[in-house]
Amino acid sequence: MANVKIIFGSTTGATESAAAEIAAAFGVTAVNIANASAEDFKADLLILGSSTWGLGELQDDWAAKIGLLEQADLKGKLVAVFGLGDQSGFADTYCDAMGILAKKAKDRGALLIGQTSAEGYGHSSSVAEENKLFCGLALDDNNESEKTSSRIGAWVETLKHHLG
Ligand SMILES: Cc1cc2nc3c(=O)[nH]c(=O)nc-3n(C[C@H](O)[C@H](O)[C@H](O)COP(=O)(O)O)c2cc1C
Repeated sequence: MANVKIIFGSTTGATESAAAEIAAAFGVTAVNIANASAEDFKADLLILGSSTWGLGELQDDWAAKIGLLEQADLKGKLVAVFGLGDQSGFADTYCDAMGILAKKAKDRGALLIGQTSAEGYGHSSSVAEENKLFCGLALDDNNESEKTSSRIGAWVETLKHHLG
């Protein structure tokens, strides 16, 4: 069995709920970054999730513990990211925190998987997007909560394919 770890940061609970749903699909329990240690970053597949706060910033607990990601040895490791944001209220910084996590993971040598199409979203700009692709799974419980479960379900299936 592949060792899958899910680490999330969440202020009002939206990312926590998404993390719990993703974790359940892998039969594991998600870890809150507020309680995480370096050990939690050792996995066959590491899934990192953050909501975006301020104007395009990491969620607070992630910001406080970002050293764990910046020091993790992710050389050749599979990493996937997901984010919660508000594509309408924060259209210019939609899910930026997800992009921040992805960049930091890549800087540590990770193999990023789980990119998704940015078609059909109503944002105007995101550091998590390049060439009409999000670097991970973009969720929006403020405006499209009805899509969250199906988006998670489809995404988890693609991640499972990578694990073989
Ligand atoms: C003060 C404030 C700032 C926010 N800034 C952003 C932002 O820059 N980009 C974005 O996509 N969403 C932004 N959001 C929306 C949150 O990311 C969204 O509500 C998310 O679901 C919260 O997830 P959490 O409860 O897991 O922290 C902001 C929300 C608030 C209240």
